[in-house]
This record gives sequence, structure tokens and C-alpha cells, in this order.
Amino acid sequence: MGIGKIFKFNAEEGVGVITVDVPGEPVNTWTEEVSEEFYELVETIGDDQFIKGIIFISGKPNNFHSGGNLKYLEAFDSREKLARALDRTHRAFDRLQDAPFPSVAAIYGHCLGGGFELALACTARIAKESKATVIGLPECLVGLFPGGGGTQRLTRLIGPAAVDLILSGKTLPADKAFQAGLIDRVVPAAGDLLEEAKALLNEIIAGTADLRRPAHDFSQIDAVAGEARQKAIKAARGRELPGPMLAVKAIQEGVRLPLKEGLEVEKKYFTEVTLSNEAKGSIHTFFLKTGTDKPLSMVPPGFKARPVRKAAVLGFGTMGRGIVIDILRHMQIPVLVKDLPGALEPGREFVRKILEEMAAKKKLKADVDQLMSLLTLTPEYGEHFKDVDLVIEAVFEDQKVKDGVYRELCRVVPGDCIIASNTSTIPITRMARTVTNPGRFAGAHFFSPVWMMELLEVIRGENTSPETISNLLAFAAAIRKRPVVCNDYPGFVVNALILPYFLKLYELLERGVPIEKIDAAMVQFGFPVGPVRLIDEIGIDVHYKAFYALGLDPPETLKRVIKDGRAGLKKSGRGFFLKDGSVDPGVLPLIAVKGDPVEMSGGEIQDALYLEFVKKGKELLDMGIVDNPGSIDVAMIWGLGFPPDKGGPMKWADLTGLSRELYSRKFYI
Ligand code: NAI
Repeated sequence: MGIGKIFKFNAEEGVGVITVDVPGEPVNTWTEEVSEEFYELVETIGDDQFIKGIIFISGKPNNFHSGGNLKYLEAFDSREKLARALDRTHRAFDRLQDAPFPSVAAIYGHCLGGGFELALACTARIAKESKATVIGLPECLVGLFPGGGGTQRLTRLIGPAAVDLILSGKTLPADKAFQAGLIDRVVPAAGDLLEEAKALLNEIIAGTADLRRPAHDFSQIDAVAGEARQKAIKAARGRELPGPMLAVKAIQEGVRLPLKEGLEVEKKYFTEVTLSNEAKGSIHTFFLKTGTDKPLSMVPPGFKARPVRKAAVLGFGTMGRGIVIDILRHMQIPVLVKDLPGALEPGREFVRKILEEMAAKKKLKADVDQLMSLLTLTPEYGEHFKDVDLVIEAVFEDQKVKDGVYRELCRVVPGDCIIASNTSTIPITRMARTVTNPGRFAGAHFFSPVWMMELLEVIRGENTSPETISNLLAFAAAIRKRPVVCNDYPGFVVNALILPYFLKLYELLERGVPIEKIDAAMVQFGFPVGPVRLIDEIGIDVHYKAFYALGLDPPETLKRVIKDGRAGLKKSGRGFFLKDGSVDPGVLPLIAVKGDPVEMSGGEIQDALYLEFVKKGKELLDMGIVDNPGSIDVAMIWGLGFPPDKGGPMKWADLTGLSRELYSRKFYI
């Protein structure tokens, strides 16, 4: 029998074993080429009277099949092309299912998405226990849903429980997959998967296999689907994203029909979802995530990071404490903290409290006492600093204070100790003037609360050496941050983009657009909170000072709000909002009304505010502050909560055609 490039077929006494192994790839996925070869294989063997049964197994060490290749799926831009590809896959799966002989999927390692859909088209499934073995349909996690028959075959196999499994994208280890009915048999970790698969196949051929195929009751499917829909809308804060909405429709409509017709329903909705901007945005975010999951992949090949055996943090306030927590829990190395005497003990108590909370939630492997013993607190620059490898400075945001700190620090740390400032607004290049050997100095801008926010902006000053940037990327990897590298620029990336957004916000407020309407529009856009709520939460005073720090005069309304003693609801008990979540009526007379009032729809508000991100992002790219649009998108998704289903502000501009309309080009080439 033909030996393909990807699918190798070996038959012995009528039992065919098909080994799937996409050459040169770490995992098996469906691409055009793989699907084509699979289709031909099934066409060739589909009616073979000499075959008694077949087994699918993988040639990869830890992977059965990971499903649709996202790059391949993301690239579809025509309904016809996608429909053709989808038809071919479905025809092959149908052929397999309708073949005159039974088939068994022998699973070890990941069996996900379209990989599991192949297994679902087989007569039975068997999986070997292992940490590597996970089974399920995670497509909804990337803005899609299972489109290779998964919504229909899994639902018919396990009943209405499939709805939650598909919508949550949950994947299961072998034993749980067995309990849930996804697979028919589990092979213990020490067992022989192929032999056990053959045994199962022979039982099926002999008619003695006990395959659990209970009849399911779908009379309540509308209620189940309705609940799933509501849950998905709630999770998306009121938005109806195409992935989950169409997944529910495909199941709800399809499951009432004979399988073949149900599959047609699935195909129709899958085509729609795959071509949606939200699916493309979500897939893009998935790639941004995997691209920054391992910051060491961003350093030049062969680079050897300077080992960090001991770190120091200057300033034990909001940020210093958070940075200490992350160094302790992820690196478990001695940490020296310098602050004014009165700030030391309260800081220590805070760090302990957070670590204990993490331990209580089982989010901390190490022992809290042991971690706390790694902490040394000092009010002065002395002996303790002589063997420090890396310093993060997080003292008051005041150039003079910082200058004084660097002068003293540089006297006591080794000449090659890496020094980074967590400043939000002071230019790194300017601060470098008081640092000896300024090549070792850069910005390391964390976000608050540090232990919850993944983003770290690594800022290159004019004198920062490439090695220092690489060392900070290695540090980011050690404390599990997602870094973006940028050049020195007021506000770096996130704050640079957010400032014009805030300016536009005040402009709208001053033209009479209501606070509630603006916030609701931006939540509907996909942000966790609207801009006014965001300002109230970060502190109106902090927000106000940021304007001056970045050399701008704050908007009149903001000045009045500050003058009225409002630093934010949490901070001072008074802000834009009341405790019950409504707008404080006391704020309304403070709005500095300008010109004629304007009426704006939610969509117009979204367009006006979002445009500010795009314009500033373009400026950062043109000026070379970042070297690719992905850095801006990563910063905005993980630093500000920009909706992941939009792929970041720059990607969204490409997807919606805004970049072409404004600049006659796309940001991503
Ligand atoms: P904070 O006021 O909470 O803490 C600053 C700490 O620095 C205080 O404990 C103070 O006693 C200490 N300090 C002052 N002079 C010192 C000196 N000479 N030596 C050692 N310690 C000294 O301020 P926060 O919010 O932690 O900000 C620190 C830095 O982080 C600032 O540069 C700020 O711009 C930046 N930042 C703040 C963010 C935030 O959300 N709060 C976010 C990102 C950066």
C-alpha cells in the first residue's frame, strides 16, 4: 500500500496501521498538504474489501495530532477557498466513518481540535495515560469552534455535556476523557498502546467490544444552549463574540438533524466564524502570546545572560513591594531592599501577606518563611550591595530623588551590576547621566499590581548596551513577565498610547457626551473597564500628575476634579463614581463644557477613542520607538487589557481596513 509523505500505511493480516507524522514539524497539524494526502489515503483505502480494520497512531513522540494549523486557517480570506478545504476534510472524515471496516484512534500526547475530530470520525478511541496526553476541542479559546465535525460528533457521542466542553475549550487527561465518554479505553502508562489498540480493533471486528454508545436525550438542548450562550456573553462582559455564539448555534441546530445535515450546518457557521475579524484577532493574540511566552527567544543566539544571584530593589512602596514578591517567588534568590527606615517593616508585612495569600490559594510552591528569610531590609547603601547583580529602582517619581539614589548606589554596587529604573515618565537617557557605566542602565517598567500583570516594558536609553537589554529579557523570563522592548519615549508604549486616548475622552466629556455612555461603549468594544472607571481606579491624582510629567497641561475638567478633592473612589472616597457604581452627580458641574454639545452613538465613541491608539501607534512605529507592530499589540493587550479578540490596536486596524484607509498600508506585512 502507498507510503505517503505524512501518512504511512502498513497492513498485516488485513489490519492496517496508519502512522501520522508531518515531516520536519514538532507536532502534527492539518494544513493543505496534510489534508490532501489524508483525503487521498482515505479515498484509496475507503472501499478496500481486504482491510478488516485500521488504526491511526502518531509517529511523533508526544503528540497524536494538534488539529488545524492556525497559520493555515488564519490565512483564509475567501469563502469559496475555505468551503472547498472544509468540504475535502469533511468528505475524508465521512468516508472514514462510513468505511466498511472499523477504525481505532490510538492516542498518546496531545489530541486536540481537528486531531480529536479525526479520532471522533473513527469507530473507537483508546488513549495511553501520560502527562503529555490531553484530549479535547480547544478551538473556542482562539475565537473559533470545532469545524471538522466536532460539534456534531462529540455531541452525539457524549450528549448535551459536549456543549460546555466545546464552549470552555477544556481539554482532559486520559482518565478524565474516559470518564466523560470521549474515549473508549485507557492504556496504563506502562502499557503498549499499539498492541492494546489492535486488541480493541479485533474485539470490534469480532463484535465483542463493549463500546458505550448510549442514546442521548436532546429534548432539553434549547435550554442547555441558551444557558451556554448566556454564560459566554457574561464571560465577554455583554459581548456576543462570533466564536461561542456560532458554536452554540451549530450544536443547537445541527443536533436535531441527521448527522450528515448537522455537519452541513456546522460547515456553514464554521466558515462564518473563520472569516470573522474576531477569530483572526484571537489567533493573532495567540501568536503574540506564544511569541513572548519565552523571552529568551528574543535574545541574540549564543547570548549568555549575566547570572543574577542576588538582586536589590530600591523603594519599598507600591511597585517595589510587587517587584520583590515576583523576584522572591519566581527566582528564590536573596533580595536586598533599600528604603527610608519607616517604610521597611510595613513593606515586609505586605510582602508576607501577599505570599501567604498565594500559598493559601496553592499558587506558591516555596515555603513563605523560607522566601521571607531571603529578604534583607536596609535604610542605607552599605556593604550589602557589593555583591548585587541586578538593581531595580522604584523610588519616588522625582528626578532629583532618583539622581541622588543613583549617585549613592553606583558607589556601592559592582561596576557591571545591571541597573534598571521602574520610572513611568522620566527619560531613561536623562537618568543615565548619574549612573556610572551607563551602558548597564535601562528602564524596566512594571505594571500594577506587579504580581498579577504580565507585561514588562524594557526601555533602551541612548547609552544602554545591547547586553543590558538581553540581560533584562533574561530577567523577565526568570520572573515570568512578557516583555516588550522599546526606545526611550515619553510614556514608553502603553502610557504613550493611553494619553491621547484620555485627551480624546475629555474632549468628548466636554462636548456633553455622558460618562456612562463612554464607559459602556468601551466595555462593549472589549475593554475590562471604560476609560473613566479606569482613571478612577488608578487614582485621579496619579492620572493628573502623569500629564505634567509628560510635559502636558491637564484638561480643564481634570483640573477641576482634582481641585474638588477627588483622587478616586478607592483612594479618597470621592471620584467620578459612587459606591453603587453610578456616576457621582457632584462631578457633572465640574465638566468644563466647550462648544455645542454633540450626540454620539456607541460606535462613534468607540471609533473616536480607538483611533487615538492607532495614530500614536503609527507614530511610535515611524519613529522607530518599537521595531514592529507586535510590540505595541503585546503592550496594549497585556498592559491595558485591550480586547484579545481584536489582536491589539495595530492588528485590529489591519483587520478592519482602517490602516489602509488612513495610511494606504497595513501595519503587519
Ligand atoms: P510609592 O510612593 O508607593 O513608593 C516609593 C517608595 O520610594 C516609598 O516607599 C519611599 O519611601 C521610597 N523612597 C523615597 N526616596 C527614597 C530613597 N532615597 N531611597 C530609597 N527609597 C526611597 O511609589 P510607587 O507607586 O511604588 O512608584 C515608584 C516608581 O514606580 C515611580 O518611579 C513610579 O513612577 C513608578 N511606577 C509606578 C506605577 C504605579 O502604578 N504606582 C506603575 C509603574 C511605575
